[in-house]
Amino acid sequence: MVYADLLIHSAQMMATMSGYSESPACGEDMSKIGLIADGAVAIREGKIVAVGTTQDLRAEGWVGPDTKEISARGKVVTPGFVDPHTHVLYAGSRENELSLKLKGVPYLEILKQGGGILSTVRSTKQASDEEIKAQTHRRLRTMLSMGTTTVEAKSGYGLTVEEELRALRLIHELDGEQSVDLVPTFMGAHAVPPGYSEEEFTNYVVDEMLPQIAAEGQAEFCDVFCEPGVFSLESSERILLKAQALNLKLKMHADELASAGGAQLAAKLGVISADHLLQASDEGIAALAQQGVIAVLLPATSFNLAKNSYARAREMIRAGVPVALATDSNPGSSPTESMPLVLTLACLYLRMTPEEALTAVTINAAHAIGRANQIGSLEVGKQGDVVILDIPNLNYLPYHFGSNPVEMVFKRGKVVWSI
Ligand code: NIG
Ligand code: FE
Repeated sequence: MVYADLLIHSAQMMATMSGYSESPACGEDMSKIGLIADGAVAIREGKIVAVGTTQDLRAEGWVGPDTKEISARGKVVTPGFVDPHTHVLYAGSRENELSLKLKGVPYLEILKQGGGILSTVRSTKQASDEEIKAQTHRRLRTMLSMGTTTVEAKSGYGLTVEEELRALRLIHELDGEQSVDLVPTFMGAHAVPPGYSEEEFTNYVVDEMLPQIAAEGQAEFCDVFCEPGVFSLESSERILLKAQALNLKLKMHADELASAGGAQLAAKLGVISADHLLQASDEGIAALAQQGVIAVLLPATSFNLAKNSYARAREMIRAGVPVALATDSNPGSSPTESMPLVLTLACLYLRMTPEEALTAVTINAAHAIGRANQIGSLEVGKQGDVVILDIPNLNYLPYHFGSNPVEMVFKRGKVVWSI
């Protein structure tokens, strides 16, 4: 008999999120999270080998003399959280912009004045590889402590070929140097740097950056900040079509600050995910549903921009759009690492149920980064990425906010964080 290396057992409630590895959960399915009372999961050589009740797994004989047993009695067990939209790699911070924001200076105005993203471009360029990695490592450690086991990480604080390549290289190095798995995205079209018109910089991204980025093979996705005043629909389309031709998968920052047809373009291009979408129109939502584009919603960004406006998750779910949630972790619009906070905001302000929100940070988030065959659910064959939450039931997760509910985090069946 082969035995498990690890058995997590006796969970008050285990949310397996099973049944959505082929395609993301939509509509009412987002509420069906595969709950098992007195749940247990067995892991061997980093992969899940059995899932069921504690009694069933014991009866099946997974426990041998060397099996490590961990009790989750009275607690909730879920898959590790997947954060499918972050700008986590950077150096410096922007707390100096808080007073401007409080005076009502808009986010894009701060950028126009050479601050915002461009400020982080400068501080990142000035920092050594070691400094950028040390600062990012610390944020990844915070993410892990809050239950996040896989993170999408974008470049985009470089804005030159050399600096963007450096960012992607550092993401790869960090991936190997700590426990959180990183999925790299090239986002050279994050802002237009000084000295360029939008058209000139778009030409530079298309003709210079993308061919070299693709040749290095360090990026899996390409993303664009599609927004009036940053990259227009036309520029975004040119960049994404070129990326697609170079075999990169596509993502888009769409309809964040203005409703300008970003969601429709996302659907037309068949991107894997369209992100933000605060201002997505009814037509845009219908187009996303039609094409099965995943909506990655970022309520911590809405909260932090303090505009009292949130993405229309209910309409999206009703229309059949698969919804995922992310932190958008970045030094400007969302300086946080916390998926538990995102869950709370999603329930209170996007009016998602705790079940829908959990689906959105696990299996649907895994789909948004092309990893649903490996992570995002507790199913046989998947990676042993598991979280034990010290909460009595699922409602408690969004309900009690501002502190960390995570008790233990497992990555490939190994304890990588515990209180
Ligand atoms: O997703 N919208 C554009 N990019 C980021 C913000 C990055 C920054 O402000 O540094 C976002 O919100
Ligand atoms: Fe973003």
